[in-house]
Amino acid sequence: MSTEAAPAPILIGGPAEAGRRELAERMTGIGVTEADPEEFSRLASLSSSTFCVALVDGERPSHEDLSHLADHAHLVLHRSNRDTVDDLAGVVHEGFEVHRASSAYPDCRHIDLDNRVGYTAIAEDFVDELRITTADFHNASAPHLSRLLRESPAGSRLLEVGAGRGWLREAVDTGKADYACQESSAGMARYLPEDVMTEPIRALPAKHGSYDYVVGSLVDGMAYPLGVFCLAQLLAPSGRIVLTWPSAVWSTGRRRTTRTTQFVSASGRTVRGIHSFTPGPAQTKELFRLAGLDLTEFVECPPVPPSGRPYSGDTVLADGSLPESLVSVAVGVRQ
Ligand SMILES: C[S@@+](CC[C@H](N)C(=O)[O-])C[C@H]1O[C@@H](n2cnc3c(N)ncnc32)[C@H](O)[C@@H]1O
Repeated sequence: MSTEAAPAPILIGGPAEAGRRELAERMTGIGVTEADPEEFSRLASLSSSTFCVALVDGERPSHEDLSHLADHAHLVLHRSNRDTVDDLAGVVHEGFEVHRASSAYPDCRHIDLDNRVGYTAIAEDFVDELRITTADFHNASAPHLSRLLRESPAGSRLLEVGAGRGWLREAVDTGKADYACQESSAGMARYLPEDVMTEPIRALPAKHGSYDYVVGSLVDGMAYPLGVFCLAQLLAPSGRIVLTWPSAVWSTGRRRTTRTTQFVSASGRTVRGIHSFTPGPAQTKELFRLAGLDLTEFVECPPVPPSGRPYSGDTVLADGSLPESLVSVAVGVRQ
């Protein structure tokens, strides 16, 4: 079906033509526009309020194709990962509600793209020896992550998202769960095992409900409503999500913003404009609720004194004091 006008409020596109039509028909009650792949990118960029969904079918597209789709779509759904068209329509409905509740956030398509580029630019330096504030964050959160994950039973499935250069796998006891990882910045992914999933979190090809644990360390860049919604979709019933980010106490006391960050590389180059969300307990509860998760624990981790060096200058707050909490660990269970 071809359209000229900007679509509203839901646009369904992507390469899965038959499924697209079926899904659009199932959702006509709330106003859906269907678009073929060429139209889709044009229409998707016309209106920021339209919720754009791309449907993928059959053979799994390349990482590049999925990233390209996620640059236009708020949600990229793999038809084969849902049992029925009703299931697909249900996710689109829920995602639409999350999208409508996201007006306080930048457009998620920009968040993911900016961070993909930004983290690639800093990847070479992203080791604790060079990034000592990150090392302080890691030291503060590692004991809590091990406490939460070391009891994972044999046969359970754990997905680490935003794995960076693989710190968590090295430093945290993840128990007996089978481990898999995701990292969409090409610069970071080249330090990870070859089977790393490199698709953006809003386009992950993993089947709905595939994991018992979804875990992310310092994933402030994906702590926005549709990001957490997409991670929650990967969880099996009663599955657990464990995410960390710099604490709101630290981010407001040091950076004076809870929205963006910048990195200075070892060679002095500044990488600006990286999206970073550092919600406190009340905001996290709401973020999780929107994603269909119950917030079961919110740990404010105090700094842990490093051995053989002082704290990083950036760990200390602008007034010279140490923050009471350096990293937040949010734990949720799928409702
Ligand atoms: C601060 S690094 C942490 C890396 C690693 N987990 C660690 O603790 O060392 C954040 C990671 O999350 C990924 N990330 C940030 N924002 C993202 C987004 N919006 N979508 C997907 N990945 C994102 C980045 O590529 C990066 O590898």
